[in-house]
Amino acid sequence: MLIHTIQDVRYCVKQWKKEGLTVGLVPTMGALHNGHLSLIKKAVEKCDKVVVSVFVNPIQFCPGEDLDKYPRTLDEDTKLCDKAGVNIVFAPSPTEMYGENQMRTNDFLTYVIPPFFYVNKLCGKSRVGHFDGVCTVVNKLFNIVQPDYAFFGEKDAQQLIIIQKMVKDLNIPVQIIPCPIIREDSGLALSSRNKYLSEDNKIEALVLNKILSNIKNCYKKGITDVEALKETAYQFLTDKHDLEYLEFLDQENLEETNTANDTTRVFIACKVGGVRLIDNTLLGE
Ligand code: PAF
Repeated sequence: MLIHTIQDVRYCVKQWKKEGLTVGLVPTMGALHNGHLSLIKKAVEKCDKVVVSVFVNPIQFCPGEDLDKYPRTLDEDTKLCDKAGVNIVFAPSPTEMYGENQMRTNDFLTYVIPPFFYVNKLCGKSRVGHFDGVCTVVNKLFNIVQPDYAFFGEKDAQQLIIIQKMVKDLNIPVQIIPCPIIREDSGLALSSRNKYLSEDNKIEALVLNKILSNIKNCYKKGITDVEALKETAYQFLTDKHDLEYLEFLDQENLEETNTANDTTRVFIACKVGGVRLIDNTLLGE
């Protein structure tokens, strides 16, 4: 069932809760791919009822980013959700979520601001304010749907860690279920932004996974010095790749480390053909 208003989604969830049913939420920005479908599958398995939100959240895009051209495929998304056993696709308009004149300004909107320590690194460094927008909309979705479980992909690991922190710090009564990265057979991590890649760029984009896999192999062979592990990346990079970051951080609290261990997550962001791609891997896995 496709629902556009907060009132209608609240009404349905209230009925379910009266019957004692568990509710799962999969927040998305649409353009659903197999990565999203793996989250949805997990939610359908675990919960009695599942809501998938489809909302291209304007306040998490920075000026100059791809808000206007971000793929919007609600008809296809709804069909995929129906087939996957989703009960409600919640697709509000920006006005439904934020009201008139509140869409892109924090002068008139209450924001949820995650801690600086968690956002002054990785994607937060170049996407200033991005995680304020993410936490604000995710918090609103939690308040609207009041799910027992919410499903987030490890592909956006910094986002996942920040949301886990928000839930803990604000005592939000929801259990966050992390879901593993889904890759194409080539190793490319699935992302809605892969739609922007040409066939040639798709091949060049494999560099992210190559760098991460090679680092993991070196770690498994006993190399733990982060500088030495970083050095191994450069052999894969050409002028077709614009590396933004390659960072080794603790996967719980995003603390930097000089010596890698099993709880170190390696994060990479690289532009290929002008498209910004991210990927990561946990060394202990
Ligand atoms: O990961 C995403 O698609 C978005 O950041 C999210 C969590 C749906 C919030 O808009």
